[in-house]
Amino acid sequence: MSPQKKLTPLIPVKITGTGSYLPEKILTNDDLAQFLETSDEWIRTRTGIRTRHILSPEEIPAKMGIEAGQRALAQGRRSPKDVDLLLVATNVPEEPIPGTAPHIALGLGLGKGAFADVTAGCAGFLYALAMAATMIHAGMAKRALVIGTEALSRFVNWQDRATCVLFGDGAGAVLMEAKKGKAGILGVALRGDATKLGLLRIEAGGVRLPASMETVQAGKHFLEMEGKGLFRAAVGMMAEATRAAAAQAGLTLEEIDWVVPHQANLRIIEALVKRLRIPEEKVVVNIERVANTSTASIPIALDELVRAGKVEPGQILALTAFGAGACYGTVILRW
Ligand SMILES: CC(C)(COP(=O)(O)OP(=O)(O)OC[C@H]1O[C@@H](n2cnc3c(N)ncnc32)[C@H](O)[C@@H]1OP(=O)(O)O)[C@@H](O)C(=O)NCCC(=O)NCCS
Repeated sequence: MSPQKKLTPLIPVKITGTGSYLPEKILTNDDLAQFLETSDEWIRTRTGIRTRHILSPEEIPAKMGIEAGQRALAQGRRSPKDVDLLLVATNVPEEPIPGTAPHIALGLGLGKGAFADVTAGCAGFLYALAMAATMIHAGMAKRALVIGTEALSRFVNWQDRATCVLFGDGAGAVLMEAKKGKAGILGVALRGDATKLGLLRIEAGGVRLPASMETVQAGKHFLEMEGKGLFRAAVGMMAEATRAAAAQAGLTLEEIDWVVPHQANLRIIEALVKRLRIPEEKVVVNIERVANTSTASIPIALDELVRAGKVEPGQILALTAFGAGACYGTVILRW
């Protein structure tokens, strides 16, 4: 790619604010070992997770996205009335109809702007980010909030040690707007492999298998996962998408300053960066505290990085994720 390409973002839309929210309640591995046949040692060595945040039964899930959105707006010095597009990435909606986005739009007081949910497994946030940036670039919106919010604690089987130990609740948000200059989105590779749709699913509760006494009794409303299959697929998918997004951006992998990967398993993250030959100090990891928060995982990690003052203007970030579907992808941007 020509040096000229490197100076011109593919989409001159940048992130101008970040925010995140984690519920107060923390569940440790030792807490889980009180009622499951598991141990802190097993969970730590297999996944890197030590704790996760869990939404209390009395808390309303949309509150997480609202709080994260408010924090992103405050950081970007904007008010809800400045936002005319809200895209919410989530896997399990607040209600089957009308989903999550209207609840968050109402809570934020967004007025008459557009809002919609985006579902693409744990890669949903990246899909929503690319959609929002493209819509702004095309003149369909001025300013967008993109939120990833997830309360999978309400859909895991707390008796299934192979899944429930992996997930946590939380939300993350970014504010996006068009800006002149070098900052913006440099490369996007969104992908999918639908032959792998059985690796992670909640079988019942949709139109194929609506809720009934039988589905509830058979535990079909819980998240089911083929952990080994996902593990095997994850590294290859994220590596492929990252290489493709970097090629589109006209960048080498060495030019990436920060990799913000989906936090599903520390071993997956380590294998990914080893395969891409990216030094570990460039990789953002918070899985030990927050576990896998699905669509919220990248915006939470990004917000923590930004608030720690570690991202400098001009730096190159690669955000990469995989998940149910199997949807995966990488977005590369210049801060
Ligand atoms: C789930 C995962 C941690 C399991 O790790 P693993 O090394 O593959 O472990 P295995 O599946 O081989 O299980 C090994 C044993 O540990 C047991 N085990 C599973 N969960 C356990 C737990 N929480 N505590 C103790 N033992 C556990 C299994 O029952 C199995 O026992 P067995 O050998 O007697 O049958 C790993 O496969 C993984 O992270 N996969 C990806 C999941 C993912 O990314 N999901 C989200 C996608 S967005």
